[in-house]
Amino acid sequence: MGKPAQFMCRLRASTMAEFTGGDNYQAEFDPKAYLGYFKFGEDTLGEEYLNFALKHYCKTFPSGGVKGDTLIDIGSGPTVHQLLSACESFKEITASDYTDQNHQELEKWLKNEPEAFDWTPVVKYVCELEGNRGMEAEKEAKLRKTIKQVLKCDVHKSNPLDPIVLPPADGLVSSLCLEAACKDLTTYRIALKNISSLLKPGGHLVLSGVLGCSFYMVGPKRFSCLVLREEFLREVLSETGFIIQEFEVLVRDDNIDDSSDFSGKFFILALKEEAI
Ligand SMILES: C[S@@+](CC[C@H](N)C(=O)[O-])C[C@H]1O[C@@H](n2cnc3c(N)ncnc32)[C@H](O)[C@@H]1O
Repeated sequence: MGKPAQFMCRLRASTMAEFTGGDNYQAEFDPKAYLGYFKFGEDTLGEEYLNFALKHYCKTFPSGGVKGDTLIDIGSGPTVHQLLSACESFKEITASDYTDQNHQELEKWLKNEPEAFDWTPVVKYVCELEGNRGMEAEKEAKLRKTIKQVLKCDVHKSNPLDPIVLPPADGLVSSLCLEAACKDLTTYRIALKNISSLLKPGGHLVLSGVLGCSFYMVGPKRFSCLVLREEFLREVLSETGFIIQEFEVLVRDDNIDDSSDFSGKFFILALKEEAI
């Protein structure tokens, strides 16, 4: 009887020891290596995620009527894929991330610097989805103009943008961030509540990410990921005061790539309930 219990303790301890938090991101997250996932046409895991997420963003923002003045992106990382459709529906976007190197990488793209990541193939795909083939340059210019600032963000703070206090936004986007930032489900619950405080009642949350994922590689570095299930996400959103309007799941179609062990992808559109 004693042995399995000891084994479980050791297993739990080793799982916890492997958690990679904010300090690990600041010290070891390499934006260039991460961006390797987003090279379109190279059959990467990132491309599989993009194919799923971009279609949903397109349905949600330009055609789906989710719009407003202000949108905050939580845990932007060095990427802009999550904002390409949103910039058609919101006037001002605030990007945010925990690490300095991700801020710098985003700024490079915003300033159109030569060494910035080339998002053109992804932008081209989004333009096609939106029925605007050939309008890549206009789309990039629009997104650059709409992103007004890149702020420091920590989802574990009650105001994740502290010390900056922004007026509550009309929309909130977050892609692949909370499961990367949270070590357990309790922390996830609190982090969701924290980011929800940045959103107006009646505003929309667009949350996407991966299910059943315990790790992902960024170059040679392994980052932990909190294993999420659909039932948990439904429960935590509803207890945080969200009405789920859309919940799409796509099961992973191959398991050959060993750079991450996710079992599926999710896309959620949820409305923050008006205060009673
Ligand atoms: C997997 S990346 C996702 C990047 C991007 N949103 C995407 O969809 O590709 C996870 C991001 O979460 C950020 N992150 C980690 N801990 C965080 C925290 N406590 N608060 C805010 N962001 C955090 C990391 O810096 C990293 O950019």
